[in-house]
Amino acid sequence: MTVTFPADTATRAILAPGLEGIVAADTILSEVDGANGRLILRGRHIEDLAGHLTFEAALEFFWRGLLPMQQTRTTAEALATARLQAFATAVPVMRAAGPGLGIYERMRLGLSALCCDDAAEDSFAITGALPVLLAAASRIGTGEAPIAPSPTVASAEDLLRMLTGTAPTARAIAAIDRYLVTILDHGFNASTFTARVIASTGADMGSAVLGAMGALKGPLHGGAPGPVLDMLDAIGTPERAAGWISAALAKGERLMGFGHRIYRQRDPRADVLKAGLATLEAADGRVALAEVVELEAVAALARHKPNRPLNTNVEFYTAVLLEAAGIDRSLFTPLFATGRVAGWCAHVAEQRATGRLIRPGSRYVGPMPAA
Ligand code: ACO
Repeated sequence: MTVTFPADTATRAILAPGLEGIVAADTILSEVDGANGRLILRGRHIEDLAGHLTFEAALEFFWRGLLPMQQTRTTAEALATARLQAFATAVPVMRAAGPGLGIYERMRLGLSALCCDDAAEDSFAITGALPVLLAAASRIGTGEAPIAPSPTVASAEDLLRMLTGTAPTARAIAAIDRYLVTILDHGFNASTFTARVIASTGADMGSAVLGAMGALKGPLHGGAPGPVLDMLDAIGTPERAAGWISAALAKGERLMGFGHRIYRQRDPRADVLKAGLATLEAADGRVALAEVVELEAVAALARHKPNRPLNTNVEFYTAVLLEAAGIDRSLFTPLFATGRVAGWCAHVAEQRATGRLIRPGSRYVGPMPAA
């Protein structure tokens, strides 16, 4: 609920604990149209980008005019150079950290160790590094040696190759490209807003991306797709879906992969990702189970919260698509960061160019001094 309360300044203060209804800035990057279930990136529908552009081509489209584009080499070459640099500088630090760290925490360590000096090229250095950090963190976690990047292939292919050590199929590469482009940017979501807050202080791009990674990790944001698979596993078969969902809602649990702060319709990214399943071989019955769970969940949520439209969000089919592409669920949030970093970098650049220090107020409700 938004509450207005008297302020002692000339301006009127508004209390909005989740900042809903507050517009913090103009942006040319993306439009999340919650009423109509549409997502537009720089003037184009997400359906016209994901599944059509590689990650590299999407970067060229999305970053143009905001971040310095490459003059003497291609975007693919710039990202490949960044992968090699990350492997040389960040991966040794990640290996030295010992066995106790989780994948995401080790990636953050690697990002901190990157030699970023807030130069114009930082967006390429950081975006190119993330696949290396992900693959290395995954392999170090299982006691395997990290695999060096290849300068001759594109990001999606190299990511899969560095994870497994084998050449990925064209279908798996296409699925990862589709995923990375689908989740490239999405308005002022929690992690992007975090990046902009950090950028608004004048801090460097590496600091903004590190902060954004922290915000992405939570299950209400980018941490949901792993639990989506846990839910599908727990349900097991389509006939158990309705009963399992009712019981979860009765216990006050949230269904992962459903609901959204902005969308009052189905998240358009759900269909973009679901379409990617057509060319992959999911495990037997997985897609059919997901479809039944989705139907039952949307119906149960409509009964549970009749005044609040709760529909499928991006994370539901993220989980099904990435599993079918052979990605372990422990890598879902790290992979989200690997695509969304492109959006974070663009927002940092936009914030620097047009923004202002972001510093909301707070309402003090504690005790006052006696005198
Ligand atoms: N399952 C059950 N109930 C839900 C769900 C859900 N998935 N989503 C919202 N609700 C309920 C809430 O409990 C709340 O009930 P209340 O009014 O009785 O407290 C009501 O619907 C309204 O929910 P809010 O919390 O006000 O909605 P908000 O906009 O803050 O939440 C969010 C959005 C966090 C995504 C929420 O829908 C949720 O928790 N979903 C599950 C987690 C998830 O899928 N996260 C990924 C989001 S997509 C992304 O970030 C990339």
